[in-house]
Amino acid sequence: MTVHFIGAGPGAPDLLTLRGRDLIAASPVCLYAGSLIPEAVLAHCPPDAKIVNTAPLDLDAIIAEIRAAHAAGLDVARLHSGDLSVWSAMGEQIRRLKAEGIPYDVTPGVPSFAAAAATLGMELTLPGLAQSLVLTRTPGRASAMPEREKLEAFAATGATLAIHLSIHRLDETAAELTPHYGADCPVAVVWRASWPDERVVRGTLATIAGLIGDTMERTALILVGPSLGQHSEGQEGFIESSLYSTDYDRRFRAGRADAVKL
Ligand SMILES: C[S@@+](CC[C@H](N)C(=O)[O-])C[C@H]1O[C@@H](n2cnc3c(N)ncnc32)[C@H](O)[C@@H]1O
Repeated sequence: MTVHFIGAGPGAPDLLTLRGRDLIAASPVCLYAGSLIPEAVLAHCPPDAKIVNTAPLDLDAIIAEIRAAHAAGLDVARLHSGDLSVWSAMGEQIRRLKAEGIPYDVTPGVPSFAAAAATLGMELTLPGLAQSLVLTRTPGRASAMPEREKLEAFAATGATLAIHLSIHRLDETAAELTPHYGADCPVAVVWRASWPDERVVRGTLATIAGLIGDTMERTALILVGPSLGQHSEGQEGFIESSLYSTDYDRRFRAGRADAVKL
């Protein structure tokens, strides 16, 4: 028996890895974080699977479900949205499983920042504009931010920011970032990337809060930085990567003594 932690992706049921899909299909028990995983993803479960939405459960109750499956020798597919390496609460479950000697493995998933960038049709690291992407969040009821991880500290680098779990604080977030990026800095907000009702609003740090108004839907990512301007007229100020330039000397190009044969 194994607990398979599976990154269930941003929402679309076909944005799972093949490994994740196959493990879901082979597991008689499925525990899923119902607040972010749509029912469509559960269509990959076997027809007679026990399917439990863990959104209303506390950690003890979730571990009790896993313990019962372990006692019965049944594999568990444990689904969290996006990828498991960020804000999945997998860490605390693994700590309990290790303490109880219950085996587990981890299958990565498509993270929401990647799905949002795909929705926008954009690269987030453009030479000359930004070469780093910061995955971050603002403080919430469940988690405070460590002192050194303040938004301003990341903003001081000028990197592209992918701000999670923060749409309800858009006003304050834009105000904190403006001294670093400037009021005209492009911003894109993507709700429910890859869901049938995904929505995108683009603006600047000065305009974005006014453009989105009040919204009850919290599954949204705020992307900020000069790279986000690449879609608009006159915002083509990035330089091309040397990787594919004609005079760039690469090991994969013919003509070099040490050229790698493909
Ligand atoms: C608890 S975190 C989970 C992050 C997830 N593990 C990942 O890899 O993206 C939830 C936050 O991720 C973002 N998010 C998750 N799915 C999303 C989607 N489909 N579209 C936009 N943002 C999403 C939102 O900021 C949401 O508040």
